[in-house]
Amino acid sequence: MKKILVTGGAGYIGSHTTVELIKAGYEPILLDNFIYSDGSLISGIEKITGKKVNFHKGDCRDKAFLTNLFKTQGPIDGIIHFAALKSVGESVQKPLLYHQNNVESLLTLLEVMKQFGVKDFIFSSSCTVYGQPDHIPVNESAPFKRAESPYGATKQLCERILEDSFVEGFRVVSLRYFNPIGAHESSLIGEMHFGSPNNLVPYITQTAAKWRERLTIFGGDYNTPDGTCLRDYIHVTDLAIAHLQALKFLVSQPDANIFEAFNVGTGEGVSVLELVKGFTRATGVEVPYTIGARRPGDVEKVYADPKKANSVLGWKSTLTIEQALLDAWNWQKKLTK
Ligand code: NAD
Ligand code: WQD
Repeated sequence: MKKILVTGGAGYIGSHTTVELIKAGYEPILLDNFIYSDGSLISGIEKITGKKVNFHKGDCRDKAFLTNLFKTQGPIDGIIHFAALKSVGESVQKPLLYHQNNVESLLTLLEVMKQFGVKDFIFSSSCTVYGQPDHIPVNESAPFKRAESPYGATKQLCERILEDSFVEGFRVVSLRYFNPIGAHESSLIGEMHFGSPNNLVPYITQTAAKWRERLTIFGGDYNTPDGTCLRDYIHVTDLAIAHLQALKFLVSQPDANIFEAFNVGTGEGVSVLELVKGFTRATGVEVPYTIGARRPGDVEKVYADPKKANSVLGWKSTLTIEQALLDAWNWQKKLTK
């Protein structure tokens, strides 16, 4: 397997995965409509790898564009589908946009894949599909609770579409990411923000850089050891490598129709306060914070049981949370410059 179409390749996780694909000898073909990115991470990928990126600007919902891409770039061996809108808050304000973009992108891609006989597909799913699970660490057989947001609902729907499409001959791995954080060790690529970040780590780094006055910790009265929420924070490079293992897994079973979902997390629950303290330990920089009200829709605790990915994909997270926080900080310093 060589040529991999990477949708959303100009974004945060797509760019890190592209670096790992190039390092491993694949030929990634990147597609992005730049709705939540610009070309800057593409130049970063080129600097890290020393290779020109094969990039195409276009939209996953545009069938004519996809058809032309498959025709001119083919034969494509597999697809990693990152392209999606991902802001939980925005999805509550603009549910139709989220359903339209995320679900239609998937359906159009599958249609064109079928037309060209492309079968292997890796989907960017999310731990959000579980809601607040009854048991933690949560494993892949846990039932989906009603999604807290339209964004979460699109991930549940897309997984259902992929599971149903199994009979059409597709071979699908759905990776349920927990909380990706950090940046490439080179600080040449990382997470871009268009507006105020909603996620914890960019808020921490922007507060440490004095872009923001203080961090508000959403809720200090949860039923957790220090009263703040627990999450499973995973280094984006570890997450990127999981996609390579997923590709190898598909190649190892050439004749089978496949739909398999995997948790991609460390297996460790870390509290918001622990993360803030970990940031200061890793960087020596204090982060002023106050404990505020709970954020509506937040689950109290969720972290992965990653045993299935460990045993079936042969993947395990290796980078520490301190390393992820230090890399996030170095990326923030680069953005500040
Ligand atoms: P990102 O916003 O950095 O990257 C997504 C990219 O997709 C952007 O560059 C955007 O311009 C592009 N895009 C969106 N819609 C498109 C369309 N219709 N056609 C072409 N390009 C389009 O986000 P990310 O953090 O890299 O996330 C990648 C994937 O992982 C998404 O599917 C997201 O839902 C999923 N995910 C992310 C997280 C997270 O916390 N970052 C967690 C779980 C799952
Ligand atoms: C983490 C913790 C907050 C900001 C989201 C999506 C999920 C997935 C990953 C895509 C929570 C607390 C945050 C702040 C805070 N994305 N927090 N102050 O909510 O776990 O997951 O990203 O699929 O779908 O919902 O991540 O980084 O927003 O929050 O106290 O300013 O940090 O309450 O406990 P979350 P997050």
